[in-house]
Amino acid sequence: MGRSVYPAWFAGFACVAASASVSDAEVTAPPAPKAVTGVSPKAMAHGGDAVGEAGRKVYQRYCIGCHGEKGDGKGPAAKFLDPKPRDFTKGVFKFGAVPAGKLPTDDDLMRTVTNGLSASSMPSWRLLPQDQRWAVIQYLKSFSPRWKKDKPGPALSVPEDPFNEEPPSKLPSIRAQGEKIYHGRTTCWGCHPAYVPNDRVTSYVQAYGKSETPRAEMSKAEGKFSEPYEAIVMPPDFVKRRLKTGHSLEALARVIWAGVGGTAMPTWKGQLKDDEFWAMVYYVRGLVEQRLAKNKSVIPLPKYPQPKDR
Ligand code: HEC
Ligand code: HEC
Repeated sequence: MGRSVYPAWFAGFACVAASASVSDAEVTAPPAPKAVTGVSPKAMAHGGDAVGEAGRKVYQRYCIGCHGEKGDGKGPAAKFLDPKPRDFTKGVFKFGAVPAGKLPTDDDLMRTVTNGLSASSMPSWRLLPQDQRWAVIQYLKSFSPRWKKDKPGPALSVPEDPFNEEPPSKLPSIRAQGEKIYHGRTTCWGCHPAYVPNDRVTSYVQAYGKSETPRAEMSKAEGKFSEPYEAIVMPPDFVKRRLKTGHSLEALARVIWAGVGGTAMPTWKGQLKDDEFWAMVYYVRGLVEQRLAKNKSVIPLPKYPQPKDR
């Protein structure tokens, strides 16, 4: 890697990285690309040479400054960043609609690369043409042998929101049910904060016939050391911190259902009845809304033209 890499990366980064990942705007997943410039979809699917070359170019221009030439997360900017850029040589990923710990699907990686990860320095690359995003995703898989051994997924489908059609007047009772589940049934306060006084936590826990005792500092999140990321990963306080994969009901349901790979955040898939699961999601969304209401300094996301399928 020559000295010229840094300025090239920096120039590209400044032009193309959309600021979406640092705003509070809702983010949605793009559709999978239908056609790809210059490279047949078949070659794409098999990670042919053309894709590899296209992906390498994109990577060297836009990703290397943080993720490093060898994909080990040690680019020149990495020392200034917390959390650190992902080390692709480990083949461990946080986010995807797959059970935490499994390899993400291409659609999952596309969502991450397109939207970026809010509350981290991972930018949104929605302004890069879709075929380039697709190619760089194939390229970043070449850094870890895990991609040759393991299959991604299985892709999880989150059950449908049973409250979708409910009038807004029902919201308080749905959230009240979610509050009970969050504190008493799934005891999310094992890592995230509790949002009710300790005696109420205890009564919720008992109502579900459980015996967990509250932590010492229930109003604060408790981070745990994560081996693959070699760092303490802090669970967000929903009324204070932005979430990395967005805060729409859909995004919340996905990340809670799937969990976060390589961290303590477990998979909640299939552990609750659909209406219980969703009541909890509505409760968390309510906590996020408290932050949004307080945080008047949020810079609104400019309306970028949607990247076209090319
Ligand atoms: C300014 C620094 C920066 C740049 C440039 C950058 N990233 Fe990242 N990226 C990060 C950080 C930091 C994380 C880890 C966030 C975390 O752990 O929560 C990350 C994580 C990722 C992940 C892992 C997500 C997961 O689920 O674990 C992928 C995939 C990724 N980046 C792809 C890319 C691609 C592709 C590019 C270039 C087009 C790129 N990044 C450019 C900082 C950067
Ligand atoms: C054993 C610890 C632990 C438990 C229990 C836990 N979480 Fe988490 N959670 C985490 C950690 C750690 C993260 C941060 C991941 C990151 O930012 O890399 C997280 C992240 C999240 C996120 C944010 C994802 C994003 O996009 O930034 C949500 C939402 C969430 N948890 C909801 C829940 C809910 C709801 C429960 C209970 C059903 C729960 N968690 C239980 C540890 C936990």
